[in-house]
Amino acid sequence: AQIQKGAFSHFMLKEIFEQSESVVNTMRGRINFDDRTVILGGLRSQLANIRRSRRLIFIACGTSYHSCVATRSLFAELTELPVSVELASTFLDEQMPVFRDDCCIYVSQSGETKDTLLALQYCKDRGALCLGVTNTVGSTISRETHCGVHINAGPEISVASTKAYTSQYIALTMIALQLSDDNYAKLPRRHELIDGLFNLSADIKKTLALEPELRKMAQEQFGSAQNLILIGRGYQTATVLEGALKIKEVSYIHAEGINAGELKHGPLALIDDKMPIILVMPKDRHYSDSENALKQVTARYGAPIVICNDDDNTPLFNNLKTIRVPRTVDALQAIINIVPLQILSYYLATGRGFDPDSPRNLAKSVTTA
Ligand code: G6P
Repeated sequence: AQIQKGAFSHFMLKEIFEQSESVVNTMRGRINFDDRTVILGGLRSQLANIRRSRRLIFIACGTSYHSCVATRSLFAELTELPVSVELASTFLDEQMPVFRDDCCIYVSQSGETKDTLLALQYCKDRGALCLGVTNTVGSTISRETHCGVHINAGPEISVASTKAYTSQYIALTMIALQLSDDNYAKLPRRHELIDGLFNLSADIKKTLALEPELRKMAQEQFGSAQNLILIGRGYQTATVLEGALKIKEVSYIHAEGINAGELKHGPLALIDDKMPIILVMPKDRHYSDSENALKQVTARYGAPIVICNDDDNTPLFNNLKTIRVPRTVDALQAIINIVPLQILSYYLATGRGFDPDSPRNLAKSVTTA
């Protein structure tokens, strides 16, 4: 059956708004919220082998790569294994060493991206255990990997990926939970995360309600912007990279995601009273470091718009515009925080008369290397 836009003017906006449901579909039948356990049927046959791996290597492109960046530290925390996250093209350029006791995880919405497929073949040839995370049943990556997880986000039509990102993030989080469920010391952390996942749909709904505010902001704050700098750190490093990618893809504004830890090593030179800036600063263990970044920026007359938690009453934001989102578990907060940036990028595109569903020069699925 052909998929319709319904009441929405574009698939991108429809898919952004679907996220309160698509995240539930990703978890359905896999998380038992009563006894707080995770069971991923697609990993069962290889679970013991994955746990025996000496290293986890994530390989992906584009938005899918960002979902790996977003969950890297949670994998390290829960599995206590060394974790690396690689762009498929770079991985192949560098001919990185891969061994039989590596577990390689391929993340791809389409399951057909050529660079990711070539990296999969490369690792299979070297005897690594290969795991696929895709949104497309029967796709090449889901067929060619030894085991995997389907993210069940439903078909994504818009070239700019939105609901696949949040569902990949959740699928990866569930894999990390499943891999660590033989580690008793991590039980309280797993329970905290599973409770956070339980509330995620409601948190996303509250965030989607910011749409009118964000539409206005796109016009009033960034109407004539040529550049946009997004700053964040820790879990939010992925948010600023993915937010900048969304903005570039659909609005053609030059946007750059910067890890706040790197600010003083170069990017600070770009800051003045004219540079549009978004700072992502939730209440997590990086808050005081982000506070430093904020001070460095305001000292150069930068006036960032801050994406912060709705319970954050700090006077630091008194003279700044804020986007206030619900607070969740630190490692899940980036799922919430990307939503306002998706909406903002949508209105930056439509405000300039561009069709966000089919951006110039881009394809939904890149099947050439
Ligand atoms: C293309 C799309 C991006 C996507 C990337 C990876 O460049 O335009 O939106 O993130 O491919 O695609 P995949 O299907 O492997 O997730």
